Amino acid sequence: MDFKDQVKEASDIVRVIGEYVRLKKMGPSYKGLCPFHNEKTPSFNVHAAQQYFKCFGCGIGGDVFKFVQEIEHISFFEALKLLADRNGMQMPKRNEFVDPDAKARGSIEDMNGLAAQLFRNNLISTMGADARAYLTKRGLSWEMVEQFGLGLSDRNSGLLKLLQQQGYSNEQLETSGLISKRESDGRLFDKFRGRLMFPIHNESGKIIAFGGRALAEGDEPKYLNSPATPLYEKSSVLYNLNRAKNAARKFERMVLVEGYMDVIGVFAAGVEEVVASCGTALTAKQVRMMRRMASRIVVNFDPDPAGRNATEKSILIMLEEGVEVAVLELEDGLDPDEYVKKFGAEVYRNKLEQAGNYFYWLADRARGHFDMRTGEGKVKAFQFLLPSIQKIPEKIRRATVASDVAGYLGIEASLVLDEFKRAAVDRKEQVLQVPSRTVPHAEKLLLRLLAASTEVRQVMLPRLASMGAIGGFTTHSIFETMVHLHENQPDFNFHDLEARLDENDRGLMAELVFADEIGNEAVLMDQAEHFLKRLEEDAQRTRLSEVKARIKAAERAGNIDDAIRLTEEYTKLENLNRKGPASR
Ligand code: UTP
Ligand code: MN
Repeated sequence: MDFKDQVKEASDIVRVIGEYVRLKKMGPSYKGLCPFHNEKTPSFNVHAAQQYFKCFGCGIGGDVFKFVQEIEHISFFEALKLLADRNGMQMPKRNEFVDPDAKARGSIEDMNGLAAQLFRNNLISTMGADARAYLTKRGLSWEMVEQFGLGLSDRNSGLLKLLQQQGYSNEQLETSGLISKRESDGRLFDKFRGRLMFPIHNESGKIIAFGGRALAEGDEPKYLNSPATPLYEKSSVLYNLNRAKNAARKFERMVLVEGYMDVIGVFAAGVEEVVASCGTALTAKQVRMMRRMASRIVVNFDPDPAGRNATEKSILIMLEEGVEVAVLELEDGLDPDEYVKKFGAEVYRNKLEQAGNYFYWLADRARGHFDMRTGEGKVKAFQFLLPSIQKIPEKIRRATVASDVAGYLGIEASLVLDEFKRAAVDRKEQVLQVPSRTVPHAEKLLLRLLAASTEVRQVMLPRLASMGAIGGFTTHSIFETMVHLHENQPDFNFHDLEARLDENDRGLMAELVFADEIGNEAVLMDQAEHFLKRLEEDAQRTRLSEVKARIKAAERAGNIDDAIRLTEEYTKLENLNRKGPASR
């Protein structure tokens, strides 16, 4: 077994995928919402026995490596390394960082690690006295400082010196996002200087970037963030997702706040399922990342005009992605961090529990925008709300919400229905249909049996091959691939097979694998044996009639020698047949 197979064997695909996608056991496999495309009903399947996943919505499928590659946006080698690390397995040296992209990402990851360490040391050294005082003033416990890996960047390009000592090239330094270059003379210097440093992790806990808050008066901007690098693309990152995911799954909720400090404040209040988008407008991708962990999102942005506008925009994106949205707006103009400090963790947690559905919040917004004493104002208010109501995917719920909102705004229900009818379009989900072929039941059964068991293959494949029956199957290409694989690698797994099939065959095999549970080994063998016997009998009959036809032809052509030889062959075949095809 090569290293790849060892890692694969050690990694349970259901557990690995389960860390990214909420999976439910259904029949022989696990089902969930596909993390790779937008859907509201689950068509994403994971098969434990075959160590294989497949989405019947968008078509993506493969083994555990493929999943990790796709979800983490990394190369095969990085996925291999990630899974090896998880299982405490040492990567063979020669495999490390084979492709250049992976190599670049790997070196940035290492530099980020060194940076985080340096920033931390700065914070606990004498240089960090002011920064520590600042943290205390802001009510951050040392426990949180450690938990979030906070640090301090120095003003003298200490990081540049350290990274140069470590032998990183100028090119590597520049792509790290940690080091900047002065245009005028090309001199390198630290991008982050004299800032409180927040490491930003990806979902699996690697440091991929930093945010740095100004500490000195007049330092602009207030927050400086890492630029995009081969390791960091801000539109697909959520701050704190790595720490939030378990709690989010457990409590089926994710809290979305605006800033780094808010995340830490809310986390310190005992709500671990909290994330922030790092200083950007929320993207569909980020919503999908949250949705993988919880179906309900509570938006708790700052109660200022910018925060409210961002809330409005976010609501639409979240509804589009089919999550349940609640909004919490805190009073006294306080952001979550300030609120927790002022009123305490428990008061804040209760507020979260009571957060209302988004449309009540929107309705309150509408009341502020329009004159609700006039009919025209009411209609305008309702129209303001309409787009977000229409984003609700289920028809009945949509109608209920519409009439609830109408009631809340004091609008005639009939008027609501009119508006609604005019604009309502049923939003049907697009599901990519795997083109279905008419494959005989027996072939399907045999394929399933062969895919399910090495033992069945051991017995059946050589016999199938020698029978010459395969050529006549509608799915002969799959059988041929299996026979070929079997000759070279008898213990091949489903992925090995899948990888060698064309799109069409792959779709069929996926369907078969995710069909109902099949019985245990003994039952499988029995079924296969039974089916094979029938095939062999069929093949025998075909061969006999073929020889018969050739005898006739030889006689007609006057080829007596051939006719005699063929007749002998015929008798031999017939005798064989009498003894039964299975006993050889
Ligand atoms: P805030 O200004 O609300 O900051 O920006 P904050 O997190 O509450 O921090 P404190 O309490 O003032 O220290 C919210 C988020 O917007 C991004 C950061 O991610 C910040 O946490 N931001 C803000 C920037 O990226 N750049 C900026 O200049 C300001
Ligand atoms: Mn704040």
